[in-house]
Amino acid sequence: MAVNQAVRDYLLTRRSVGPAFLRDPGPDADELATMLTIATRVPDHGKLAPWRLIVIAGEDRQAAGEALAAIAARNNPALDEQGLGIERGRFLPMPLTVAVISSPKPSEKAPEIEQLLSAGNVAFNLVHAAHALGYAASWVTRWFSFDPAASSALGALPGERFVGLVHIGTPALIPEDRPRPDLDSVVSRWRGPSIAGHGQG
Ligand SMILES: Cc1cc2nc3c(=O)[nH]c(=O)nc-3n(C[C@H](O)[C@H](O)[C@H](O)COP(=O)(O)O)c2cc1C
Repeated sequence: MAVNQAVRDYLLTRRSVGPAFLRDPGPDADELATMLTIATRVPDHGKLAPWRLIVIAGEDRQAAGEALAAIAARNNPALDEQGLGIERGRFLPMPLTVAVISSPKPSEKAPEIEQLLSAGNVAFNLVHAAHALGYAASWVTRWFSFDPAASSALGALPGERFVGLVHIGTPALIPEDRPRPDLDSVVSRWRGPSIAGHGQG
């Protein structure tokens, strides 16, 4: 197979763009459909599709933020106006957010960890899809992915959980790269059985 230079160069340089820097314009309906199609084209042991995606866009962004603010105020009655404002604006200014939910299915073949990993792949493939269509993205979890009431308000059903929210938009800036792990510190060559991971390298 020939080298795909564009894909290689993209993978070597991809960076998340923070939510505050994702602006209009966002993807149109056709572009969004393409992104979601790419996102759901992931390894999936047993073909279970153990995930769901919920799109938060347009006026729903404000309503979703209000729902989070109400839950945050219940969780922390001392939360001030500034804190509430942060919650109300959780889905702004980015034009689009896709919540990625792990929705495990009964399976003798694929343990739940594999199904969760498949959902993680959906989230990251969505990041790639956004870039492929000329946008930028950021995968976050924040408190609301772990708060049962907030997860439920955003659409998670019993037994489901958020693997994250992928914010998508046009980047207002191109961020500098961040330090990347030194390969030698994370990659080693297998040199025979070891005890508890020692003896490799
Ligand atoms: C599961 C998961 C959850 C994350 N949640 C957050 C978050 O809540 N807030 C945040 O600032 N970054 C979060 N990140 C990190 C960003 O997605 C991103 O990886 C990082 O800001 C920049 O790294 P990159 O440029 O290599 O993508 C999360 C990453 C993962 C994988």
